[in-house]
Amino acid sequence: MTTVISTRVVDAGEAAIAEAAGVLRAGGLVAFPTETVYGLGTDATDGAAVARLYAAKGRPRFNPLIAHVPDVAAARALGRFDAAADALAEAFWPGPMTLVVPKAENCPVADIATAGLDTLAIRVPSHAVAHDLLAATGRPVVAPSANRSGRVSPTTAAHVREDLAGRIDLIVDGGPAEVGVESAIVACFGDMPRLLRPGGLPREALERVLGVPLVAAAPVGTAAPDAPRAPGMLASHYAPRAKLRLDATEVLPGEVLLAFGSRLPAGAERAAKVLNLSERGNLAEAAANLFAHLRALDATGAPVIAVAAIPHHGLGAAIEDRLARAAAPRPRRDPESE
Ligand code: TXA
Ligand code: MG
Repeated sequence: MTTVISTRVVDAGEAAIAEAAGVLRAGGLVAFPTETVYGLGTDATDGAAVARLYAAKGRPRFNPLIAHVPDVAAARALGRFDAAADALAEAFWPGPMTLVVPKAENCPVADIATAGLDTLAIRVPSHAVAHDLLAATGRPVVAPSANRSGRVSPTTAAHVREDLAGRIDLIVDGGPAEVGVESAIVACFGDMPRLLRPGGLPREALERVLGVPLVAAAPVGTAAPDAPRAPGMLASHYAPRAKLRLDATEVLPGEVLLAFGSRLPAGAERAAKVLNLSERGNLAEAAANLFAHLRALDATGAPVIAVAAIPHHGLGAAIEDRLARAAAPRPRRDPESE
């Protein structure tokens, strides 16, 4: 049994940020907005606080966390940057990109936060509330997406409350997250930079700065234990309760529809509910709507969500990745972590 605590929701602003920083410095759990999705933060240097964070999320312990800092200088204090990491940090921070680099000699991040790895995932978010909160806290803050383990990531404070009320101290409401999918994760150690997770910064943009193609992680559902991928990228990580039917060209009886673009699949008129990721076929708009639409379609109780095909390029790759995970077979879960 997890102890029930009262969760306060406060609107972002100077007073809220000061309060939230105080809660973080005292080892509490604070959900806050970033440009990608809402994060559930705690002091990265406080091992006991990080253990409480894992418990609140019901997250498997082997899944390491991203340390968030307010600026590039703070990031450099935590890890060792090679030429690729330097170039990416310079080009894309602050922004929706995470770099995995070897831990610095005196890195203060607790071992439990990196699941014993000698590398550390670091991110400098561009969201003003996230930036100000990190600056006010003055310590690295680990922040996984602020959902229960196995649920889709939250893009609003209301999503966070649905999943985590009674389990965390504070939710800072900064409105909907603009990007809508999690950061792109690039590993910068070893011979070649590798894309561990497609995300809110398109692969094409990363490659333009690197000047070389990024080696990709293994596709969802393939058994390639030695493939370079984020250890926490469980196949069914992003799971609504409904089953997903991808690349649907028609809607079957009883299904609800997640559409993309102006042309709807055949039988769309028989769907009990239709939500469109982007009627004008814009991938940035689609990414921003993805998780909220999945939650809303799931809430209808329909057994199956038919999902129209999404283009592969740009942010489409991150959207496809999240949809493939949401559609993957589910492992059996410990009820306490559900
Ligand atoms: O956009 C984001 O990245 C959001 C916001 C809140 O910043 N955060 C987020 O965190 O998505 P999370 O914990 O849901 O996903 C972090 C991913 C996991 O798949 C984890 O396995 C991977 O990062 N990761 C963390 N540290 C790693 C490391 N040292 N090596 C490889 N992968 C790592
Ligand atoms: Mg997550």
